[in-house]
Amino acid sequence: MPVAVPTLRPWVPPAETKADVEWANLRTIDLSKFDSPDADEREFVYESFKTAVFEDGFLYLVNFGLTQAEIDEQFAIAQNALIDSKITPEEKERLEWKYLNTGKYTGYKPKGYWDIAKGVKDNVESFNYYSETMCDGDHLPVCLRSHIDKIAHFNQYCHDVINRKLLSLLSRMLELPENYLWDAVQSHNGVIGEGYFRQMMFHPVSENDRKKAAVQMHGHQDYGVTTLLLSQPIAALQVLAKDGQWRYVKYKPGGMIVNLGEVLEFLSGGHLPATRHRVTQCPPDQANEYRLTIGLFTAAKNEVSLAPLTDSPLLAREGYVSRFEPGSEGIVDATKIPTAEEWRVARVLRSQTPPEDIVEVKGVKFNRQYFKGIYVLEPI
Ligand SMILES: [Fe+2]
Repeated sequence: MPVAVPTLRPWVPPAETKADVEWANLRTIDLSKFDSPDADEREFVYESFKTAVFEDGFLYLVNFGLTQAEIDEQFAIAQNALIDSKITPEEKERLEWKYLNTGKYTGYKPKGYWDIAKGVKDNVESFNYYSETMCDGDHLPVCLRSHIDKIAHFNQYCHDVINRKLLSLLSRMLELPENYLWDAVQSHNGVIGEGYFRQMMFHPVSENDRKKAAVQMHGHQDYGVTTLLLSQPIAALQVLAKDGQWRYVKYKPGGMIVNLGEVLEFLSGGHLPATRHRVTQCPPDQANEYRLTIGLFTAAKNEVSLAPLTDSPLLAREGYVSRFEPGSEGIVDATKIPTAEEWRVARVLRSQTPPEDIVEVKGVKFNRQYFKGIYVLEPI
């Protein structure tokens, strides 16, 4: 007999801020036009997407094929688990993530894990899934097990339909066959390949801590292939623009925010940039609200080398920036260039480590990482 799925408290988006903040002027891509029978509309999608990637590295997606009810349901599931605190203390303890042992963010992250400023701990709880845990079982809290089919279906659609279209556009930007990145780079094992799905909730921050810490999550780039984030109203996500200014990402009801990860920046030799972003304190009129975010971080196949794709006519014609420098052997041995899996694990393990070896190349600052006999330059 089928088990009844518990009814969820509907998610009601918090009110948008009325504060006069500086918004990023991001472009919006109507993904329903990706498959349009009208060639001009398809071309418009490609040209808009290309400009957004080159100019901002961040964009909004709308009309990507999920209903508002399906989107709201994902927020309601996360709200139930994190804001309504239905994950039990026993589950929190048993399922707490152990990323330093595994190189993966699997499971529950309690708040107060990291120092974000002197005397201020982070205020974020999250639950993270990989393909192998996106199924029913004791690895999930009971409150999430009841909804795992909905969670898996949502992720499968985002990964296999939305993300695949994005990779097609990105392959075209590299002047490669449209299935290139999907076939040769993206991991497909399980529901979301080697990527992960995160339900995350920022607690309201006390007035005292808001004064001491301007930022809740320091500036960073995502390390995977693409990031797909459901848009939500609390103004705290900021992107770093080409002019060096941080600007807020505005709420796009029913929309999705997309940015690229370091894998694409490495493979494209810098043509497909992984744009820096951070999470600040929200404006005062939203300070008492919970900030719920839902995101899929897609990943490359484990064995993919992060060496630039020199087969790309774009790289061949316009050149590229290699992020790999010789170590003590004096050469960049191709076998030493990290694979996607090696980079992913390294990035997870040092996720809270500040840059240690800052170098400047052609006016751009990098954090130089020693890696298996070569140096990897990571933009900071
Ligand atoms: Fe991020």
